[in-house]
Amino acid sequence: MRKGFSEFDLSGKVILVTGACGLIGREICDAFSSAGANVVVSDIKPEKDIKRFSGELSKKYKRKSIGIYLDVTKRDSIESGIRIVLKEFGKIDVLVNNAAIDAKFDIANVKKVNPTRFENYPLDLLRKSIEVNMIGLILVTQRVIKEMLKWRSGNIINVSSTYAIVAPDQRLYREKRKRGQVYKPVDYIVTKSFIPGFTRYLATLYAREGIRVNTIVPHGVENNHPRDFKERFSERSPLGRMCKVSELRGPFIFLASDASSYMTGAVLVVDGGWSIW
Ligand SMILES: NC(=O)c1ccc[n+]([C@@H]2O[C@H](COP(=O)([O-])OP(=O)(O)OC[C@H]3O[C@@H](n4cnc5c(N)ncnc54)[C@H](O)[C@@H]3O)[C@@H](O)[C@H]2O)c1
Repeated sequence: MRKGFSEFDLSGKVILVTGACGLIGREICDAFSSAGANVVVSDIKPEKDIKRFSGELSKKYKRKSIGIYLDVTKRDSIESGIRIVLKEFGKIDVLVNNAAIDAKFDIANVKKVNPTRFENYPLDLLRKSIEVNMIGLILVTQRVIKEMLKWRSGNIINVSSTYAIVAPDQRLYREKRKRGQVYKPVDYIVTKSFIPGFTRYLATLYAREGIRVNTIVPHGVENNHPRDFKERFSERSPLGRMCKVSELRGPFIFLASDASSYMTGAVLVVDGGWSIW
């Protein structure tokens, strides 16, 4: 840690990240470890992959990181995961509610996006997103907050989206030569929009018990998107480009650290200016 930046030091903090093996999860676990934290990598990916990643972090930064299978939609999975964390570290200082289902428009995933517009959008997809992105987030938070209340100390970071504060510009999701117009689906918008309100609810409820709760709003993280998508995005973005995943390191470290000690209930927008016009 550079001299003069000790407020950002995460040494001694135990940080539990859900959905930690995805695009943003991997990057922020690395960032937290680099700033001194003991990271708990949790996901529903195959357990060997989860543990391989936590092992890589432990080796790279020479501090203990552990990997656990934790399905945010299942109370027994949450319970057994939290028990392992408490046995290993005795506490959880920071919870990052990052796991979510998100229709992706990068080359690897764009074909899987259901192109149906709102009026016919399938109920099973809606239910699945509500289950993971809303109920899952609430279940993990309920369980972890019980521990944080015992220590009268805690910090929760809820990962939302710009689509909690502005509408998706559906023109972005046009596919010129393939299926025509594809839509950023309603399930994502609904389930991400609840997060700032839920964050404020928790922030006021637990502020006097030493628990801070904030929302972070990332946007447009580049991950091998089709060229025409990137062009449309860049044209529309005030900064003129997509977000590099590494550009989320600083904002997440800031929220997880004492540098943000006077922030609770806030929405930290990291969108290259997308939502300002
Ligand atoms: N990528 C972006 O551009 C972007 C922009 C704004 C917000 N976000 C938000 O950031 C977060 C991470 O996004 P990402 O791009 O890394 O997504 P990702 O799909 O790469 O990763 C999500 C991870 O969540 C895990 N997951 C899914 N269901 C789960 C469950 N039931 N229990 C536990 N884990 C589960 C997946 O296995 C995956 O590893 C999400 O909340 C997303 O909404 C992403």
